Amino acid sequence: MSESFTLTNISQLVTNNSAIGDGELGVITNAAITVTDGIVTWVGQTSDADSSFPKTDVGGRSIIPGFVDSHSHLMFAGDRSEEFAARMAGVPYSAGGIKVTTAATRSASDDHLRDVARSLINEMHESGTTTIEIKSGYGLDVATEERSVRIASELTDEVTFLGAHVVAPEFSSNADEYVDLVIGEMLDACAPHSHWIDVFCDRGAFTVEQSRRILEAGIAMKLSPRIHLNQLEQGDGIAMAIELDCASADHLTYLTDDDIAALAASNTVAGLVPGADFSTRAPQYPRGRDLLDAGAVVALSPDCNPGSSFTTNMPLMIALAVREMHMTVDESLFAATMGGAISLRRDDVGHLSIGAKADFALLNAPSYIHLAYRPGVPMISTTWKDGKVIFTKGDLA
Ligand code: NIG
Ligand code: FE
Repeated sequence: MSESFTLTNISQLVTNNSAIGDGELGVITNAAITVTDGIVTWVGQTSDADSSFPKTDVGGRSIIPGFVDSHSHLMFAGDRSEEFAARMAGVPYSAGGIKVTTAATRSASDDHLRDVARSLINEMHESGTTTIEIKSGYGLDVATEERSVRIASELTDEVTFLGAHVVAPEFSSNADEYVDLVIGEMLDACAPHSHWIDVFCDRGAFTVEQSRRILEAGIAMKLSPRIHLNQLEQGDGIAMAIELDCASADHLTYLTDDDIAALAASNTVAGLVPGADFSTRAPQYPRGRDLLDAGAVVALSPDCNPGSSFTTNMPLMIALAVREMHMTVDESLFAATMGGAISLRRDDVGHLSIGAKADFALLNAPSYIHLAYRPGVPMISTTWKDGKVIFTKGDLA
């Protein structure tokens, strides 16, 4: 027996489908949405809603597609709050702190790693996120990287093998030997649990040539590539990322005009993670406005990780994109939903067209603009994934 329900009296329903609502966000006002067996089966005006299904009046509040977080590092143990405090007192950020997390992650049990990731996923649900990519990358040895992607695969379909996060401490004097391990035994152990392969191509991590070797080895094992790029300095990896058809190039704090033009002409999404620029006090934010003006697809993500950005909160990223990267509210909400979906090459999430997954969030606000207008305020009343409530403040009916 199929199960259906309808939500009515939605002040603004953001569908992200301009064919069924106003503007780029496809906004329907005074809207209703019907869900059948976890799929969106109807959207329209409340006055036209089918009265045969159980109905809930949401009281003139707004509904948006669930956020699609295309970049998170949830498989870790340990705490780096002191590194953060020192940074705020003037110590510059380098990727060196990753090794502190590596020591704690290696010695953590599977159950502990699972618990840490689950509690961060719950935070994500509380702030409206319904699709979550999870990376490994704090094990840096075969056993811990394998545990990381295996446990991540219990929690999401979007698992990314990031054995090449930094060179493991044991190989500090021979990075190429570590690359051999990553693309050999480690990749063999991790590929069966992973969909994606990623590499941190930047100062203090891997060169463009090493990154190419790593991504090409993953592609040969049927993994799809994505990349961390140009977080710490202006590098020259954009052409390689595009040539290998990376689904996204993430961070991009440093970009030339030519990089922007190349990304705009490619299928590689610009994954902007302004939480990392915020929490590392980067000298600048990525050029979100210029990327959009050039025609690039932009995705937003909190880049949740224990070092550079320990937040899961997508609405904060929207506020930063609007305030610091000069993206409009509409562009920022689109980047946090459809942008993430495009970055994960998914067409079933990030929008609320008929046939999409019924993943959405009810805001305690009459307009989605409140996501940026009320920075830091928890705006989410209730979150649905596959048509099921996965978080609620209890104020739905
Ligand atoms: O996405 N850039 C590389 N990796 C993480 C930071 C890792 C850490 O500092 O623990 C990031 O910012
Ligand atoms: Fe990252």
